[in-house]
Amino acid sequence: MKTVAIAGTARGQAIEDGSLRETATRSGLLFGSAVSYRELQDSTFTSLLARQASIVVPENEMKWERIHPGPNRYDFKAGDALATFAEAHEQKLRGHNLCWHRQLPPWFKQLANAGNAQELLRTHISEVAGHYAGKIHSWDVVNEAINIEDGRPDGLRKSIWLELVGPDYLAVAFKAASAADGKAVLTYNDYDLEQDSPKHEAKRAAVLKLLATLQSNGAPIQALGIQSHLKASQGRSEWTGLHRFLNKVEAMKLQVFVTELDVNDADLPGNIEERDRDVAALYGDFLHQVLQHRCVKAVLTWGLTDRDSWLNSFKPRADGLPKRPLPFDSNMQAKPAFYAIQEALSQRPRTP
Ligand code: G3I
Repeated sequence: MKTVAIAGTARGQAIEDGSLRETATRSGLLFGSAVSYRELQDSTFTSLLARQASIVVPENEMKWERIHPGPNRYDFKAGDALATFAEAHEQKLRGHNLCWHRQLPPWFKQLANAGNAQELLRTHISEVAGHYAGKIHSWDVVNEAINIEDGRPDGLRKSIWLELVGPDYLAVAFKAASAADGKAVLTYNDYDLEQDSPKHEAKRAAVLKLLATLQSNGAPIQALGIQSHLKASQGRSEWTGLHRFLNKVEAMKLQVFVTELDVNDADLPGNIEERDRDVAALYGDFLHQVLQHRCVKAVLTWGLTDRDSWLNSFKPRADGLPKRPLPFDSNMQAKPAFYAIQEALSQRPRTP
């Protein structure tokens, strides 16, 4: 297997090393990953991150429960650490996220009611997006607002935000984000939008309706994030639904970011070579398809190395073996997935 030199990147130094960062740059794209505060303390990891990523996003550190731990208390330490790192390494920074039904702090659940929830949302967004104004490439303003299983005709998730504020909470959030940071690309972010299955097709239709409603309500939305948590066991696909969907999103003049890409190998046999090959094949196939669309401007994986993937803490394999869902292994060595991503990034058709 080819090896990738992992060395620190001097500020301003021209990078022509086959890194994912450099390969993406040559194709007019951004490539990067989610990062945790813990990983930022590890200098071997940060060297890899500096070399490979032109855009980073905090995995948990800008979510409500971390950044807003008390009703009148904000904790920007971990988010600021990533912002400082990104600036020092000339990387863009995504913000994730301003409004979600998960990872809300305990105080919120005790204090929030139908009378104050909208104001709590506005204040949070004003404080957090205001704190980072000018430093953020794009904000995930609202995350995962659609859940078809909840059975509503508009597809909206029966979340605490819907319950306390009503369907208008999305427009409220986008308007507050725009007021706090006029430069960040304001993004709606969701999952299960990729596969050719009735479930994903229904979700795509609901997201399209949501985007159209936001636009017609004058909500300042500029981008869609497709999370892209893929499953290796899904095998090859024509991606017909995804192509149609991306054409429609492009016609709405929205940018698209692949925000949380990883390939879950939970259902593959244990053999590492076979698993890595199938994971890489899906990375390559998916990215070759998605990157045909000019509206796609950035690709981020949800973590850079298998050592720190959320998939290893949350959904273990039945045989107990560690999962291998990301481009680098636990020793920070490039895997076949790295080369598949590199090839797909390099083959992105150039802008005419
Ligand atoms: O840091 C605490 C630790 O102090 C405590 O002892 C431990 C006990 O459970 O929890 C630790 O926090 C956990 C945190 O991850 C850090 O590992 C939280 O419990 C856990 O809930 C949290 O999970 C995160 C998950 O979102 C929560 O919904 C994952 O790291 C994170 O990768 C994941 O990211 C989401 C995106 O935000 C949105 N899209 C889906 C994606 C994957 O689920």
